[in-house]
Amino acid sequence: MAWTITKMSGHLGATLTGEALKGANAAALDAVRDALFAYGVVVLPGQFLAPEDHIRLAQHFGPIDVNRFFTPVEGHPQIAEVRTRPEQSKVIGGTWHTDHSYDAAPAMCSILSARSLPPVGGDTHFASMTAAYHALSEGMQQMLCGVQAEHSDGSFAGSETLGLTMAKDKARFKAPVVHPVIIRHPVTGAPCVYVNGDFTTRFDGWTVAESAPMLAYLYRFVTQPIFTTRIRWDTGMVAIWDNRLVQHYATADYAGHARLMHRITVQGQPLEAYRTAAHPPR
Ligand code: SIN
Repeated sequence: MAWTITKMSGHLGATLTGEALKGANAAALDAVRDALFAYGVVVLPGQFLAPEDHIRLAQHFGPIDVNRFFTPVEGHPQIAEVRTRPEQSKVIGGTWHTDHSYDAAPAMCSILSARSLPPVGGDTHFASMTAAYHALSEGMQQMLCGVQAEHSDGSFAGSETLGLTMAKDKARFKAPVVHPVIIRHPVTGAPCVYVNGDFTTRFDGWTVAESAPMLAYLYRFVTQPIFTTRIRWDTGMVAIWDNRLVQHYATADYAGHARLMHRITVQGQPLEAYRTAAHPPR
């Protein structure tokens, strides 16, 4: 038996069916990773992973990168709770972002497992940062290939109201880090726009005021509907996304209902700049 892969949209996303993640052999999990790198986000319905299966799956992709702000799942500190209480109007991840871009070696992928869902709503949107890069003008591509941007975890301050209990602890916040604005995917070599509205603070060497108009333009540009796809969750479904290839956005349209997801992030590596022949390394 092999995975059946069905594309979700023109630019990104694929649904994988026909096998179980629990107890899957290395070849089956390698095929999931290959699909992840090809499609940016993969969706696997009906998997119903126990915490131990979720951890085993993540460890096939690399060491677990425990998020320092999220509330851990009881008894499983490697797994973060993405929980919305019925009285919340805002949700964790309810803005376009990529996980852990504030780290020197940002998360490679995130694995979200749907535990308990509202009757309707709570979809997650994804946008392809490679499709967005290719749609930029050549002049803009070249300019962006030559700059870096600062990323900070500062936007987590105050997020304990969203249930991120660890964000109360000031010692968890770290100094900003700098990444290239256009990165090269470490496996496929694909160019990806790597700035996001939650964590990017300014272009390196530019002031915040100088950076703001260009960053605002880029955030709007890269999240246009043409670069996106949307996941409608079912209980037991698993989604895995590559944080270099895509940004994501959790929809807060289910006020009055609870939602619980379990999330594991897998450690990535420091990001390399993407260079074009027209813009060779300096
Ligand atoms: C996240 O940003 O990791 C949460 C996504 C979601 O809950 O849909």
